[in-house]
Amino acid sequence: MGLRAWAPGRVNLIGDHTDYMGGLALPMAIGLGTEITGDRGGNWVMLGSDGFEGVAEIPIDDPGDPATARPPWARYVAAVVAEVRPVDGLVGMVHSNLPSGSGLASSAALEVAVATALGIDRVNAVAAAQALQRAEEAAVGVPCGIMDQLVSLAAVEGTALRIDCDTLEIDHVPFPDDAEVVVIHSGQHRELAASAYAERRAQCEQAELVIGPLRKASPLDVEQIDDPVLRRRARHVTTENQRVDALTSALADGQLGYAGELLVASHASMRDDFEVSTPALDEIVGAVRGVPGVYGARVTGAGFGGCVIVLCRPKTRLNMPVVWRGRPAPGASLGLT
Ligand code: GLA
Repeated sequence: MGLRAWAPGRVNLIGDHTDYMGGLALPMAIGLGTEITGDRGGNWVMLGSDGFEGVAEIPIDDPGDPATARPPWARYVAAVVAEVRPVDGLVGMVHSNLPSGSGLASSAALEVAVATALGIDRVNAVAAAQALQRAEEAAVGVPCGIMDQLVSLAAVEGTALRIDCDTLEIDHVPFPDDAEVVVIHSGQHRELAASAYAERRAQCEQAELVIGPLRKASPLDVEQIDDPVLRRRARHVTTENQRVDALTSALADGQLGYAGELLVASHASMRDDFEVSTPALDEIVGAVRGVPGVYGARVTGAGFGGCVIVLCRPKTRLNMPVVWRGRPAPGASLGLT
């Protein structure tokens, strides 16, 4: 009997570029993701893909340096094998309906799908996510936070996942019945994202050398930073953390107008203080704001291109390239075929 492992992509409702600074994030799983079908056994993890060329062939007793695995997508497979260290191999296929390079966490979905197929302990979702966060860095050198892997593993249908990235406590926040999220693609594939991402993280760490942990910093602390770039970066992280708590309450209370304003404020902070938006993303956010039924919109994920999320009344018509729409989807699963 074969297996079927599924791992969803995600959008982040709010709380971007906060996870790696021990801040707060509020992502939700979407209904697009990555599936692996196959059979366990043997000494290799051997996977084909309907979206990427070549075959990933990773020996389970010696996965080697993941960064050097080929074809390029096999780096993620090798890094997951190196973390999970399965006793049995896997022969199968990767199918994905999640566009890559769109800010919807397709690499995390691949990692979680491989790890799920290899039997990682998903009950301990935080430990599993930490292992896959290490895998991402080993595979492609991106010093990412824990958000993408954790929400793909731990999401519960109908709820967003509030993550405190300092304590690693998670809460499932019910999503209002009378709202949905629409994901719109800017048409911009994220480029240079890895180096720009690492640079932003380094700037936040430099700001911490001046005023201490950003998750505890006040607006007054932030104004003590002389360097204007570091001050802006710190201002984004500190105000974004506040917005995560504000949005969590707004969703719980069904205050959707206020929730939408928080998304728009977050977008402005990503654009002006963190400088990770693009004119195409700004244009989409501006254009949807006037549409009846729309509460608010913002870039989602790391930025530098990718997607905008729109919070709106269900079935709101948007004349835009919609990638997905709906309410929070469930997290990873493993079944038999
Ligand atoms: C990427 C990373 C996450 C997070 C976001 C920005 O998706 O993988 O850990 O830092 O960017 O919020």
